[in-house]
Amino acid sequence: MAARCIAWTITVLCAGTSLVTGTPLRSAKRAAPATEPDPNFAVNVTLNGVTFTNKGLVGFGLIPSDFIEVTGDTIGGIGSAIAIKLGSFKQNSNGTYSGTIIAQPDRGFNIDGTIDYQGRQHAIDFLLSPYYDDANLTFDDGQQTLALTYKSTFRYSERNNVPTTGLDALGVRPAQAGFPTDPLADPEMPIPNSSFPRLSLDLEGLVLNTDGTFWISDEYGPYIYRLNGHGELIQTIQPPQAILPETSKGAINFTSVNDPDTGRAGNQGFECLTTDTAGTTLYAMLQSATIQDGGDDKSTSQFTRLLAYDISFPSMVRPTLIGEWVVPLPLNSKGNTLAASEIHFISPNVFFVLARDGDGHGGSSDKSDYKQADLIDISNATNIAGSEFDSSANPIAKKGKLNNSITPATYVGFVSFIDDTQLARFGLHNGKPADNTLIDAKWESLALAPVGDPANPHDFFLFTAADNDFISTHGVFDGQSFNAGDDVDNQFLVFRVTLPHAWV
Ligand SMILES: *[C@@H]1O[C@H](CO)[C@@H](O)[C@H](O)[C@H]1NC(C)=O
Ligand SMILES: *[C@@H]1O[C@H](CO)[C@@H](O)[C@H](O)[C@H]1NC(C)=O
Ligand SMILES: *[C@@H]1O[C@H](CO)[C@@H](O)[C@H](O)[C@H]1NC(C)=O
Ligand SMILES: *[C@@H]1O[C@H](CO)[C@@H](O)[C@H](O)[C@H]1NC(C)=O
Ligand SMILES: *[C@@H]1O[C@H](CO)[C@@H](O)[C@H](O)[C@H]1NC(C)=O
Ligand SMILES: *[C@@H]1O[C@H](CO)[C@@H](O)[C@H](O)[C@H]1NC(C)=O
Ligand SMILES: *[C@@H]1O[C@H](CO)[C@@H](O)[C@H](O)[C@H]1NC(C)=O
Repeated sequence: MAARCIAWTITVLCAGTSLVTGTPLRSAKRAAPATEPDPNFAVNVTLNGVTFTNKGLVGFGLIPSDFIEVTGDTIGGIGSAIAIKLGSFKQNSNGTYSGTIIAQPDRGFNIDGTIDYQGRQHAIDFLLSPYYDDANLTFDDGQQTLALTYKSTFRYSERNNVPTTGLDALGVRPAQAGFPTDPLADPEMPIPNSSFPRLSLDLEGLVLNTDGTFWISDEYGPYIYRLNGHGELIQTIQPPQAILPETSKGAINFTSVNDPDTGRAGNQGFECLTTDTAGTTLYAMLQSATIQDGGDDKSTSQFTRLLAYDISFPSMVRPTLIGEWVVPLPLNSKGNTLAASEIHFISPNVFFVLARDGDGHGGSSDKSDYKQADLIDISNATNIAGSEFDSSANPIAKKGKLNNSITPATYVGFVSFIDDTQLARFGLHNGKPADNTLIDAKWESLALAPVGDPANPHDFFLFTAADNDFISTHGVFDGQSFNAGDDVDNQFLVFRVTLPHAWV
């Protein structure tokens, strides 16, 4: 990490030069831009004896709701998953930070059912100029703190180079050599080249590997797939039977429209995906409980499952399930589950969990009550991998009541995305009016990058982005226009946090 030359006046000094001739010395009375977060913003929480600090919001940026990407489609849904391109993040000598965010949308716009949207990822360059002052910026100035520049897109394909689709997975392909039973688009749908039925993906998680391949997680299977650098499928992980969507007769049906009798609930699949720092263990978590664990109702869907796979031998056809733990999701004031949209590894046994309601811009109502990057610790939690609970016949939480033989993860609240003071500093707000300065509803992604501050060596930037559901009044898909009735920008936020033992 480069030496700390965080801002303006200091830059000149730490570059090793003396003050430039002719540059007026900054008067003691004129306030210089803050180079550290205001200590009054700090919120501490303790987990397992360790103090974690939220130092507040330091960056905001957006890509407009009607921006068209290189394939000709409206960019959208990109907060479903983000990752910082490996090796791209850097601290500049003028106190800014730059890098490239890789963002992965889910399954396209959703006005009247699912569409034939091919899986893809976008590269977006950013310039982060952390803002630490108390004063409220205007919305226009606020969004300069994380300047975003769209760069490129590539799309995903299955074996035989067949494009993937976002269409509901009404079909099933029996297991084939090296690959499990797969979710396919409805065979009745008029898809070109029906001799190669399309693999249906509703993408939510993204993990980039050092060898150029990457893992993605989906909600239909719910499965985890590995693709190569050209976006071609090379490997599929099928979860234990307890998680597969099955009828009471044991038949698999991957549709997201109706709930199965057991297994993941519709649209409550693998929202969450992360890897440890060494890239040897892959973690995936369900958005909320399976049906047999109470997942058919928000008042009983609190107990979700976090799974760990050994990926230290990438060539192994089926990575081994080595861990499975129960995570107790937070509840709102009505006792309803605040489902999880992302996880992120911090250190062995400790993770971020992004849990939230569906309110905010583009959501069910304007006023959100809960959107947080919280913390979990699984060091005391029971590892149920390979136990009787991997069969749907043995629920971990019948009707939402946790089996008393299981100790769940420890869960503590941490970074709120809807703190009024922090939002106001960037010209944003929560609640009415529902204009473009209202915070988005669906935050679904997390990424970390080191601040590189020798005085605060455990400080990190926590990036998050919202899934805007492609909500645009003048959207374009596959050459056709669509009108989703509102304009919801693709918003990004950056917080500064202290993570004392982070292995990031
Ligand atoms: C938060 O924790 C840090 C590190 O332990 C400590 O220096 C600071 O005083 C604490 N701040 C508050 C507001 O408790
Ligand atoms: C694990 O259990 C021990 C002993 O009860 C307790 O001291 C510790 O705080 C627990 N850790 C977590 C993360 O809950
Ligand atoms: C700071 O440096 C970066 C990287 O060189 C550059 O892109 C940016 O424009 C600079 N910002 C200012 C305010 O000079
Ligand atoms: C799955 O269920 C849907 C109805 O919810 C049905 O239309 C579809 O044909 C079923 N698919 C299979 C493979 O049975
Ligand atoms: C169907 O797709 C395969 C793989 O892309 C291709 O080789 C084949 O020519 C296509 N067939 C038709 C009829 O388009
Ligand atoms: C807890 O799980 C075990 C193992 O499946 C089962 O034998 C037991 O009946 C369960 N307890 C309750 C209260 O459901
Ligand atoms: C910033 O905006 C908030 C919300 O409108 C307001 O309560 C606060 O007083 C403002 N702060 C300053 C320093 O103007």
